[in-house]
Amino acid sequence: MALSNKIWEGHARFEKNSIVLLIGILITVSIGGLVEISPLFYLDSTIEEVEGMRPYTPLELTGRNIYVREGCYTCHSQMVRPMRDEAERYGHFSLAAESMYDHPFQWGSKRTGPDLARVGGRYSDEWHVAHLTDPRSVVPESVMPGYPFLAERPIEGADIAEHLKANVAVGVPYSEEMIENAVADFNTQANPDAGDPDALLARYPKAQVRDFDGNPEMISELDAVIAYLQMLGTLVDFSAFEAEGENLR
Ligand code: HEC
Repeated sequence: MALSNKIWEGHARFEKNSIVLLIGILITVSIGGLVEISPLFYLDSTIEEVEGMRPYTPLELTGRNIYVREGCYTCHSQMVRPMRDEAERYGHFSLAAESMYDHPFQWGSKRTGPDLARVGGRYSDEWHVAHLTDPRSVVPESVMPGYPFLAERPIEGADIAEHLKANVAVGVPYSEEMIENAVADFNTQANPDAGDPDALLARYPKAQVRDFDGNPEMISELDAVIAYLQMLGTLVDFSAFEAEGENLR
């Protein structure tokens, strides 16, 4: 009885005096903050190191820009969560490193359609051409809108070096050489006969080099979007990566 009275009296002091209460709150919140934040100062990086991540090729980056422009992220996430059903359906859960060159990131918060983080290589280019032009031609019950205009819009890529530079400004490690060769790399990836695919691959390992949209006459927005989709999730070599919680795979 005596003890609980004492506690009550102490508590009453906080409850009856707003300044004391405020100081009490500040002290409590600061302790919580320190516990959460101070470890971050002792870690070199909160992103685990993985083999294989590289900045996007100029064509992939263009495709990514179109993906953002068209709002694909309003229906598609790009983050496989570390839960069994997700890993069974989409593959290894996403790593922070996999979106470290994404500005802005495309994790998304809505899945009207499936997650796209690992869609690369899952379908043929022809399937993507048909699907993006008219989704219901390959998935009759689809509610995804068609984007038939992508095939008709040529991209010159003249300003692509500027896009690379903008990414450099926010920390993406494009080299001088990559920026100088941006237009050439852009053209080579969609039209390998016209350029030097080996030089492109030396700069961007694992880049897929071919005419993506089935129309060799021009490089269209569809080429860029498919180049981007076919790259998603293909860069990191998961056979060489072991994360904690690996049993979720
Ligand atoms: C209104 C919502 C919506 C928007 C916007 C949308 N999609 Fe989809 N998407 C879907 C739905 C639903 C599906 C599943 C049915 C299907 O395959 O068409 C899908 C499926 C896909 C698939 C196949 C994924 C798989 O694993 O089977 C790809 C690739 C895709 N969308 C790409 C895109 C791209 C690129 C854009 C932007 C240009 C886009 N989507 C915009 C709803 C959307």
